[in-house]
Amino acid sequence: MAPPFARLNVWRASCVAAIGILAVCAAWAGWHGKKRSNSVSFEAGHVDANRSSGHSEQPKPIALVVSGDTAGWLVPCGCTANQSGGLLRRATFLAEGRKSHEVVLADAGGAPGGASDYDRCKFDFILSGERLMGLSAHNLGGPELALGVAYLERLAQEQKAPLISANVRDRAGHLIAEPFRTVSAGGRRIALLGVVSPKFQTRETHIDDPKEAILTTLPLLKDCDVTVALAYLPEDELRQLAAALPEVDAIIGGPTGQSLPLERVGASLVGSATNKGKFLIELSLSAESGRPRLSGRTVEMTPQFANDADQERNLKSFYAELGKRDFSAVQTSFVQQAINRHSSDYTGAKSSSCPACHQEEFAAWLKSGHAHAWATLEKRGAHVDADCQRCHTTGFGVGGFESRVRSPGYVDVQCESCHGASGAHAKRPETKTLLVARDQCAGCHDHENSPEFEFAAYWAKVAHGETPSTKAKATQ
Ligand code: HEC
Ligand code: HEC
Ligand code: HEC
Ligand code: HEC
Repeated sequence: MAPPFARLNVWRASCVAAIGILAVCAAWAGWHGKKRSNSVSFEAGHVDANRSSGHSEQPKPIALVVSGDTAGWLVPCGCTANQSGGLLRRATFLAEGRKSHEVVLADAGGAPGGASDYDRCKFDFILSGERLMGLSAHNLGGPELALGVAYLERLAQEQKAPLISANVRDRAGHLIAEPFRTVSAGGRRIALLGVVSPKFQTRETHIDDPKEAILTTLPLLKDCDVTVALAYLPEDELRQLAAALPEVDAIIGGPTGQSLPLERVGASLVGSATNKGKFLIELSLSAESGRPRLSGRTVEMTPQFANDADQERNLKSFYAELGKRDFSAVQTSFVQQAINRHSSDYTGAKSSSCPACHQEEFAAWLKSGHAHAWATLEKRGAHVDADCQRCHTTGFGVGGFESRVRSPGYVDVQCESCHGASGAHAKRPETKTLLVARDQCAGCHDHENSPEFEFAAYWAKVAHGETPSTKAKATQ
């Protein structure tokens, strides 16, 4: 199932399938900061993509960049090397592009990571980060709708967030956001309209059929050169919509899991900006007069894009806000409320209560990375962030770590992360510890944060308490 492009930074949409002979895709080589010498012409206007040639009066070519499915990923966690994604890189990519192009930015929706107090706070900062990049429109996806109509209306009114949706209505039957926005860039008018799948209907919303909603909206778009629909739809619905709507030049989706390479479906270009904001879609408008044609590609936000300074400040402000609010674990979407799997016998005891009887194990733990997992976060200022705390602490939301201020004793990955709350055991050793320790690793060492994880190799680095039975088990 490994996606063929997992290791590719960038791959061009199959231009051939997309637009036949058009060579526009290749013109984007300049976007990477790395100067490439091959200058490629646009098919019609012969606009030189290499701007250093001195023709500065020429209008810049126009690009529309679409992000989506950010899913709370303001910044990738950095748990492992080469993680993609994050607004800090997105902004650098845009800044690079703006050197040679008129760039319009839109988001296909799916930016919040959940609907908890923590997620709302984070969404505010994702939106402010997007606005620092000059966002023109942010479509309401399923995760946005889960935040509630009143909340979204407040964002649009008080913070002037450019939210759009052509098919979400409140109980009174009114659209809850502007159905579309138009943007002028480089002498062209681009219409951006937004729809979401009826699957994401909530109790306080009604979601119209996306196709009908777009057809109703199209006549309102006067004098637009290009019409792009931002569509928070699963892949099958996205394709169906594209096939049924030749009137729309491009339909860019969000939550398709892996990113879809751009392709033509009917008369429209279809793609998705997806996977925790790791993949953006970049559409370029051809330069000839008359109705411009679109081509494009998918771009992965790899570490090759440096961190943008404004976005770094935005991240710092987010951390400052988290520091002030000190959300408890249950105010996040990382634990289900009111979990109490443990009987009162199993209260936490912290690692400091173990060395009295388990000196060697304690010494081994102290040497392991687990014993300074919190310091790792502190170094980045990320210790205030529940999205990092949940794996770099002990018993997050299940009786151990509650919040930075309220439960400072449960930072780091202590003994009880793997053995379970051991208060009773520490008092009466004949009471066994709670958990099968080796089954706990995968809860934190998951595909995203520890892609190389393999029990035997990892256990070898943190091994302790090796009774013969343990050795036998661990080598199985
Ligand atoms: C799902 C669990 C999980 C979450 C969430 C998580 N981490 Fe991690 N983190 C890990 C694991 C597991 C490792 C060890 C990875 C490995 O060595 O394979 C790790 C390692 C790291 C490392 C590398 C440590 C080193 O010195 O090698 C950094 C830095 C880090 N995490 C920072 C963060 C930050 C910042 C966040 C929040 C944005 C975060 N982590 C969220 C589980 C998590
Ligand atoms: C008062 C002494 C004492 C303290 C304190 C203590 N233990 Fe133990 N522990 C023992 C003894 C004795 C055994 C062996 C029991 C056996 O073999 O049945 C044991 C066995 C274990 C085992 C293997 C058997 C089992 O229960 O799963 C684990 C794991 C363990 N301890 C973890 C811990 C942790 C974690 C702490 C600190 C929270 C801790 N112990 C604190 C005395 C202690
Ligand atoms: C509560 C979450 C959590 C659990 C459970 C967990 N880990 Fe980790 N692990 C981490 C984090 C976080 C780091 C990164 C620590 C750092 O350097 O900041 C890490 C790092 C490591 C490392 C690299 C650091 C080193 O000391 O070499 C190994 C190896 C490791 N874990 C093995 C395991 C194994 C084996 C298990 C299961 C028996 C396990 N971990 C269970 C969170 C966890
Ligand atoms: C990263 C997870 C992890 C952490 C943290 C951890 N252990 Fe363990 N521990 C294990 C695993 C896995 C085993 C092997 C037994 C098994 O497979 O269940 C083990 C085995 C043990 C044993 C021997 C159990 C037996 O059956 O012989 C003891 C005792 C023990 N640990 C105590 C501790 C103490 C004390 C600490 C903290 C100072 C600690 N452990 C921290 C995962 C962990």
